[in-house]
Amino acid sequence: MLPQATNEALNDQLQLEFASAYQYLGMAAHFAAASLPGFSHWMRMQHDEEQAHALKFFEFITQRGGRVALQGIEAPPAEYGSPLEVFERSLEHERLVTERIHALYGRAVEARDYPTQTFLQWFVNEQVEEESTVQEIVDRLRLAGGNSTALLFLDRELASRSAAAPAAAQG
Ligand code: FEO
Repeated sequence: MLPQATNEALNDQLQLEFASAYQYLGMAAHFAAASLPGFSHWMRMQHDEEQAHALKFFEFITQRGGRVALQGIEAPPAEYGSPLEVFERSLEHERLVTERIHALYGRAVEARDYPTQTFLQWFVNEQVEEESTVQEIVDRLRLAGGNSTALLFLDRELASRSAAAPAAAQG
């Protein structure tokens, strides 16, 4: 049985993952409107991944005999700035998600809640990868500066991002 406090903390994380998905969908719309289809595609893939993350929490809470309580999601901004600003915002967001995952993990360690620790381990690793991937794009956008050729090259490259393996296959 899932302790009530853990159940609530996991529901909060489920909300944050859906909020992340919604934010990335907003960024995808922004890039689509800016005729940067590669950036837009990358953000759509990111949206799909975040939804998969949220559903992992849904499954885990349910499996542990907890109760999923869905929360509201704030609308993302209607307007964003340059591609660099969008990805900097994304990096900041992923750092927040990492902090929240670590706090959850710390709570599970204190409570000697081994199933929750094992479940969260996947997310600890995933956040290392997410931050690294977004940091790399931020670095490349900084290098590109205002050079439109470099920007269009990166747009083309990001268009090739493929969908992640189904959540079940990710462990
Ligand atoms: Fe599910 Fe990007 O954190």
